Amino acid sequence: MNKPILAPSLLSADFSNLASAVSQIETQGGGIVHIDVMDGQFVPQISYGQPVIKSIRKLTQLPFDVHLMVEKPETMVDSFAEAGADWITFHYESTVHINRLIQHIHDLGKKAGIAIVPSTPVALLEEVLPDADLVLVMTVNPGFGGQKLIPSCVEKITLLDKIRQEKKYRYLISVDGGINDKTIKLVIDAGADVVVSGSAFFTGALRWEFTK
Ligand code: DX5
Ligand code: ZN
Repeated sequence: MNKPILAPSLLSADFSNLASAVSQIETQGGGIVHIDVMDGQFVPQISYGQPVIKSIRKLTQLPFDVHLMVEKPETMVDSFAEAGADWITFHYESTVHINRLIQHIHDLGKKAGIAIVPSTPVALLEEVLPDADLVLVMTVNPGFGGQKLIPSCVEKITLLDKIRQEKKYRYLISVDGGINDKTIKLVIDAGADVVVSGSAFFTGALRWEFTK
């Protein structure tokens, strides 16, 4: 089994100093920068968009996973690819033509991730798993940093890992929401490859040793 990758979420960074946040991610073991885009529709808050991503793209070689918490993600993937996303992760619950959107992201030369909120079962992903590069298991209801991990969501990681082995699929399993020094062990043991952390990472509370 490969070592898990840490993906710090910029949502918990100090927005008045994103350069310092990116440098902290680089020096403290981050392997992917997790960028939460919120549109005020799919989730209540609005975070940041393409121009901000374009600005921080210059600061690091680390891959960017843009987590789109937006309605109609198909209208935005071109501009996020252009802004510097390497991975584009959109929500199963936010659009209808999932396979077409994955294909479109691949046509743009980017990796495609599919995210599910806590109330969406893994079974609904059956038809899209063969094409996905990443599955993002949300372990909180999306929209805010600093929430508590919902323990029942951890079973989804185990199930996705089992399906991946049985069917020889290639997707990475990423886990997002409520990760701290206690919960990280649960999700890694369950089979997570990528661990997203916002508040614990930026408050210095995440002490887990990651290797890039
Ligand atoms: C929540 C976001 C997360 C968030 C995680 O909607 O998708 O990426 O920043 O924050 P923590 O780690 O504080 O739960
Ligand atoms: Zn996220």
